[in-house]
Amino acid sequence: MAKLNIVILAAGKGTRMYSDKPKVLHHIAGKAMLQHVVDTASSLNPDKIIVVYGHGGESVPNALANHSATFVLQEPQLGTGHAVKQALPQLDEDGITLVLYGDVPLIQQDTLTKLLNDENALTLLTQNLDNPKGYGRIVRDKAGKVTSIVEEKDASPVQREIQEINTGILAAPTKYMRVWLKNLSSENAQREYYLTDIVAMAVKQGVKINSEQPGYEWEVIGINNKSQQADLERTWQRELASRLLQQGVTLADPARLDIRGELICGRDVEIDVGCIFEGKVQLSNNVKVGAYNVIKNANIAANTNIAPYSHIDNVEIGDGCQIGPFARIRPGTKLQNDVHIGNFVEIKNSDIAKGSKANHLSYIGDATIGSRVNIGAGTITCNYDGANKFRTVIEDDAFIGSDTQLVAPVTIGRGATIGAGSTITKDTPAGELTLSRSKQISVTGWIRPTKKK
Ligand code: UD1
Ligand code: MG
Repeated sequence: MAKLNIVILAAGKGTRMYSDKPKVLHHIAGKAMLQHVVDTASSLNPDKIIVVYGHGGESVPNALANHSATFVLQEPQLGTGHAVKQALPQLDEDGITLVLYGDVPLIQQDTLTKLLNDENALTLLTQNLDNPKGYGRIVRDKAGKVTSIVEEKDASPVQREIQEINTGILAAPTKYMRVWLKNLSSENAQREYYLTDIVAMAVKQGVKINSEQPGYEWEVIGINNKSQQADLERTWQRELASRLLQQGVTLADPARLDIRGELICGRDVEIDVGCIFEGKVQLSNNVKVGAYNVIKNANIAANTNIAPYSHIDNVEIGDGCQIGPFARIRPGTKLQNDVHIGNFVEIKNSDIAKGSKANHLSYIGDATIGSRVNIGAGTITCNYDGANKFRTVIEDDAFIGSDTQLVAPVTIGRGATIGAGSTITKDTPAGELTLSRSKQISVTGWIRPTKKK
């Protein structure tokens, strides 16, 4: 196999984003645009990925995660040809160089694979557009062979009628690319070194020129401003929603769903409107997610029901659980099967075993809770003394009366009952009733004060 080198252009400023952040670090579906491109590039298993950066300086390399890309600085930025030229010292001697763009985030692997079929040709990714304004046009001869690419600003009125545009993405034999880039000049309307000029050079040299089209038009959409970013975000979310529908997921409205990561669904999953899924979320068979839930990095087992307005973050939830509405389940929490977590209950870093319930207004932090435990309304684990955190253990079949404070470290014995309103500071015996409560008194003859005239 010929060596594959991928050069990603990401040096542009993105003036029209009106942002202090470099354009390629703005997000689509919760991920930096450049990261999308790097991830797709990586999926082709290239020998090298070279990112050409400039504006934003080191913030660009620093923002990327899990990659093996090399970064090359382009300073100043003198055009797309000049940008690729900066990567030349990094390229392998032979093989194919594929050029991608950090602000064209949704290019897909299948499309790129089509560009790599002919190791000896220059292969262009082109697209017919109803409105080609602003793009470089693909100029062909009578036989339909590509002869050049002409930029809008350099094009004649007749050339401006051409609807086949240059997406910018192309693949070429590396050995030719080296020579072509060295011969570029900036004699044009924008005084830039155009990458597109290599096409005319290839023609002159008799190198074969192929063209391919993307599977979807949205793959080649570039982002220059917030409006285009928002449009592409919607297009992509609609595409992700369509894929879920295709698999049999029920979506109350495919236009009101946001996936910022990976959502894996089993059979007969139902998702109501306004839900946001972040990171990796797995919903097993028959899971129902009510309206306006935000779920991040979670594994939710079969038959569980998440009622509206809950927030779930880095959590494992078992089979047949009832969650929400208005539940907040924080990182490090593991709920076993048939657990019920109701409204205004916050749980952090806790394990709750089968069949236990906390249905109203509680804070449960750093707790280990057994099976069939009932936690009354308003119960709080006092897990933090201002410096250290301590664990609360509640054994199987315990019943915690409403408005109890459990001051950790503390253990509630198996089958114990805690009287409502207690402040528990010491371990409580199994099977017994424990309560700490000031005695109730009534003052006979007491008269309520009245306003002085
Ligand atoms: C380029 C193409 C045009 C094509 C269009 C598709 C050229 C000369 N023209 O035009 O045919 O239709 O893309 O969107 O290639 N960049 C750098 N360094 C530079 C200049 C650009 O890294 O010095 C990067 C930019 O960040 C951007 C990309 O290259 O991601 C394209 O640059 P841009 O200036 O937008 O080129 P266009 O004029 O749009
Ligand atoms: Mg552009």
